Amino acid sequence: MNKMINIGVLISGRGSNLQAIIDAVEKGTIPAKVVVVISNDPSAGGLERAKKHNIPAVVIDNRNFKDKNTYELEIVKVLQQHKVELVCLAGYMRIVGPILLEHYEGKMINIHPSLLPSFPGLHAQKQALDHGVLITGATVHFVDSGCDTGPIIVQSAVPIKEKDDEETLSARILEQEHIIYPQAIKLIAEDKLKIEGRKVKLK
Ligand code: GAR
Repeated sequence: MNKMINIGVLISGRGSNLQAIIDAVEKGTIPAKVVVVISNDPSAGGLERAKKHNIPAVVIDNRNFKDKNTYELEIVKVLQQHKVELVCLAGYMRIVGPILLEHYEGKMINIHPSLLPSFPGLHAQKQALDHGVLITGATVHFVDSGCDTGPIIVQSAVPIKEKDDEETLSARILEQEHIIYPQAIKLIAEDKLKIEGRKVKLK
């Protein structure tokens, strides 16, 4: 039988990806438990989702810290208190700094609404529309020191339709995000992945 791994989820907003993770865990699809949800934004809707599922929901407001390092040290403290083994960034809109990386590199993943390495950073869906690509999508990747640059675990392609705007395209990408994020977490929770340089391979 697989060991259950402890997941900590970092959010900044509505938390629909958090919900997809919670649902997959509750269905028994992933051998894991969401042990804590941390938001840098006190108004993040995802905090309520966590509470509904009796998951500790912690606000660590970056604006209350003098710099990124002290802010991230507080996050690490809370993750360690809850014995987190895998950190999932789910709509976490802060750039990860050296403290979080030092503690969780190789154990921290992110979801991004484009087919990386295309369109990293903010407003990935608008970037894709403005560029005129015909296919975009979603990516789950390990977090490294760059912005959305780490080794890629799962991707899903989403064709762009003639009439798409940012809202309609974001909604179709989000459907794929909710599928591939639990898939990626399952692969890690079942200890099926290894990182070789830029590549993520099955063991
Ligand atoms: C998602 O589309 C996620 O991919 C994106 O923010 C949204 C969060 O939605 N993340 C980024 O753009 C990170 N660069 P959610 O709060 O409903 O999961």
